[in-house]
Amino acid sequence: MHIVHSVAELRKHLASAQHPAFVPTMGNLHAGHIALINQAKPLGDCIVASIFVNRLQFLPHEDFDSYPRTWENDCAQLKAAGCDVLFAPRENDLYPEPQVVKVHADPALADILEGHFRPGFFTGVSTVVMKLFMAVFAGKAQGSAVFGKKDYQQLLVIQQMVRQFALPITIQGAETCRDADGLALSSRNGYLNDSERAEALYLSIALRKLGQNAQVFANSLQAHLPDLEDKAIEGLRKRGWQPDYLTVRRRSDLRAPQTGDALVVLGAAKLGNTRLIDNLEI
Ligand code: PAF
Repeated sequence: MHIVHSVAELRKHLASAQHPAFVPTMGNLHAGHIALINQAKPLGDCIVASIFVNRLQFLPHEDFDSYPRTWENDCAQLKAAGCDVLFAPRENDLYPEPQVVKVHADPALADILEGHFRPGFFTGVSTVVMKLFMAVFAGKAQGSAVFGKKDYQQLLVIQQMVRQFALPITIQGAETCRDADGLALSSRNGYLNDSERAEALYLSIALRKLGQNAQVFANSLQAHLPDLEDKAIEGLRKRGWQPDYLTVRRRSDLRAPQTGDALVVLGAAKLGNTRLIDNLEI
């Protein structure tokens, strides 16, 4: 596996690749990231991963400084997984000057849910992903990139960006990897103490229950969803969580669903100091 830090080095290593397959990450890799690499393998002739903790997508009070950085372990996992090139830019390589030109996603998609509770988050994500795409795919006729469905809204934002800018990149979503008890794998699970870790799976339990209740009222969703969502939020709150949202939306654009839409249940809630997100397609 070649490890490169600058965009120039990366492009040199990708010169002979016709169709790179790319997995962007912020490091602190776990089995979920390795599943993305495995999904990317058949999609390209050169498998590229990136590790970059992107300051632009953190709010001032969030965990940019303390975000876990586990370089040696990440490299070993990527190498074992068969990654060809690891792009690990230093901050100066991606942001050599203040990033004043940014990608602003559609507010209808990007200012709701995660974007509502983390204002500017999707501008930070879209901007860095555009920069990473330009670094990896510039000059290529076609490429692929894989993003986890764990960050469901992020996947939709990136798909829309690629479509709107007509980037020659196919975006694939990858199923969420879970621990045996159902907790979605996440770098932030490492912040949980033992009792929080045991409690954490109740987010996915609450989402599943909300999904089941929504299916009972599939023919009259609009009338019943607000109450069902409130009940789910209240249930988690009673267990000691601070929920941001638990909601049923249509998969295509995360708007309020109409009868017959394909649905996804999404949730975000804080347990102690750790904010967890999860979702289930139903
Ligand atoms: O999902 C992530 O890890 C990040 O948001 C991404 C896509 C690597 C951009 O920084």
